[in-house]
Amino acid sequence: MRKLLIAFFLFVPSLVMAAGGAHLDHAPVNLKDTESLKRGAKSFVNYCLSCHSAEYMRYNRIGRDLGMSEVEVAQELISTRDAKGEKTKVGELMHVAMTTDYAKEAFGTKIPGLTVIARAKGADYLYTYLRTFYLDETRPTGMNNIAFPDVGMPHVLWNLQGLQKANFETETDAEGNEKQVFVGMEIVKPGQLSKEEYDAFVADLVNFMVYMGEPVQLERQSLGVKVLIFLFILAILAYLLKKEYWKDIH
Ligand code: HEC
Repeated sequence: MRKLLIAFFLFVPSLVMAAGGAHLDHAPVNLKDTESLKRGAKSFVNYCLSCHSAEYMRYNRIGRDLGMSEVEVAQELISTRDAKGEKTKVGELMHVAMTTDYAKEAFGTKIPGLTVIARAKGADYLYTYLRTFYLDETRPTGMNNIAFPDVGMPHVLWNLQGLQKANFETETDAEGNEKQVFVGMEIVKPGQLSKEEYDAFVADLVNFMVYMGEPVQLERQSLGVKVLIFLFILAILAYLLKKEYWKDIH
């Protein structure tokens, strides 16, 4: 039993280290950029909502936070329908088009909801994940991923990004163990977007997912500014009042 425990504790750290291996690119998140959030919201409903839900997010909340009218929200963001074929309403949650059972059958795994994914995994992870799908014949989807090795998700943005090949180099560590180290990507079939355009596209998408994970961040920021303005005005009034009170005493 003791040996087993020791083996376990020796083994766990190496697992953790293996999991945290991939280098993550920095995501240029900017929640003040409403246009970027809007673009991200549109990409999200077009490219992600067919498989993933955002089960805690309502459409009209996005509209309110990003300054879109209900008509705009209905026209630009909503494309799903319920089981009876009725179009989803602006006050409803962002449900997925696909059923859980179908997803299990098609992908052999549960597809996570994405409402709070940015908080769970971090913006840098998402930014890296969506940009590092690469060709790998050994995988069922023909694709693998640097940030999420052996991922079950197909590269749904491939026609935008194009197809890329990952280059690895063999490195030998101090103990003589060989390991494959990722050194860079090479586009083998160009997509509709250039590399810079695709990076910007993903940045908008990640920006939106960060907002969605904690929508009150937007309110908190604007509230903070209002509080500061209020305190500033109060300070001026207090100063004037003080001058008024003391003017006869000197
Ligand atoms: C064709 C269906 C499909 C579409 C469309 C899709 N995904 Fe996925 N996604 C999956 C599946 C399946 C998994 C689970 C992968 C696994 O566990 O191996 C997944 C997993 C994920 C994860 C979780 C990764 C993790 O570390 O747990 C993220 C993040 C994600 N998808 C983001 C997106 C975004 C953003 C989009 C839109 C650009 C998108 N997905 C579109 C099928 C899809």
